[in-house]
Order: sequence, then structure tokens, then C-alpha cells
Amino acid sequence: MVEISTSILSVEKGKEAETFFALEKAKTDYFHIDVMDGKFVQKDTYKDMLEYSSYIRRISNLPMDIHLMVEDVETGIEVFSAVEPNIITFHLEACKDKEEVMKHIQHIKEKGSRVGIAIKPETKIEEVYEYLPYVHMCLIMTVEPGKGGQTLITDMLAKISELKTYIEKKNLEIDIEVDGGINLKTAPRVKKAGANILVAGTAILIATNYKEIIDELREEE
Ligand code: DX5
Ligand code: ZN
Repeated sequence: MVEISTSILSVEKGKEAETFFALEKAKTDYFHIDVMDGKFVQKDTYKDMLEYSSYIRRISNLPMDIHLMVEDVETGIEVFSAVEPNIITFHLEACKDKEEVMKHIQHIKEKGSRVGIAIKPETKIEEVYEYLPYVHMCLIMTVEPGKGGQTLITDMLAKISELKTYIEKKNLEIDIEVDGGINLKTAPRVKKAGANILVAGTAILIATNYKEIIDELREEE
């Protein structure tokens, strides 16, 4: 079953509260919280995303999907566990070795969240295979991390299919999340490739009717 995770990165300043209430009413499957530290990626959204996610936790019971685009993953896990997210995802590229990856996986589980591991467009899918038995979700970035409103990199479709084939071959129970440039045109293509959690920010936030666009993006082919 396909789920939609709405990225709040591009929420309009001054309209945050009404947007979050409207997304809660539209029954987005997750709120996607894009945490950026100004080092792993250029933008720094740390303070805003902590404020927004704390607010969302107070007004909604819908699950949160924290996407840590940070160098200091350990602190990110500590800080954002406070909002009791359903999933915490960190980037493989922020880790220096396998030991560090396994430490973060363990840390997230101890905090009671599901574990996601994310890879940038230029990272080969094979690099996550050894961690799949220990995580709940793999996030394939379909744009370069760092900002919303970009165009999906179509080469990523093959990467999604490769991961799907591998997961099926190994009989693993793992969600495939895709993030960046997801809209009514690209959604059918990433779903066909095997993604089952679609992150969309711009495509949803520019729509006049959130429920309509979320239901359309979720539609099974
Ligand atoms: C980019 C973020 C994405 C982004 C998605 O670094 O991880 O979640 O906000 O935005 P759209 O849907 O606008 O491409
Ligand atoms: Zn994201």
C-alpha cells in the first residue's frame, strides 16, 4: 500500500499552523520533517523543524518521518526523539564507517522509532545492502538533498527497481521511500519502480485542495 509523507520544508512563513491543521485534516500519512544543519547541506532548518515538529506533535497524532540531513547524526537523533517520531532517517554519507552506521541504527531503536537509512543520488544502492536486515526503510533521494522544488532525477528509477528486486530476493520487509520532485507526473513512475512511501513537498503545498492531491498521489495504478 502506498503512503504519502508531506514535506513541510517549503511551508509558507506565517501560514505554518493553518497548513499543519489542513494537512492533518487531509490525512497525510506522515509529516516529513527535513532537518538540515547547514553543513551536510547548505541550508540550516534545524531550529524551524524542531519548532514545527514540536507543534505538530501537540496538534496531531499523525506520524512524523524525520529526515536528518546532518553531519552530527547522534545529536539529531537525541534532539528529534523528543517529538516521538514514527521514523528517524539518517544519511549513509554522514557516517565514517560501518560501526557508526550500526551505532545510529541501535540508538534510533532504543528511542522507540523505526529506522530509515538514506542515500544521495550519487551513492550506489549496493552500499546500503549490508544494513537492510537491521532497518525498516530505505530512503532513495530522487534529487540532490538540500532544497525543495527540484526536478526528479530519472536515473533514480532504475535504482528504486534494483532495490525492490534485492529486497524481494532476500525476503526482507522494508519500505522504499523516495524524496524529491514527486508530483502527479512522477508518482506513477516511482510507484511502478517499487517505491511505497512517497515524499512530496511542493506538489502538495502549492495545491488548493490537500486531500485531493494526496489521494491522487496515493492512487494505486
Ligand atoms: C530535499 C528534501 C525533500 C524536499 C522535497 O532535501 O529532503 O524532502 O523537501 O521537496 P519537493 O517535494 O518540493 O521536491
Ligand atoms: Zn526529505
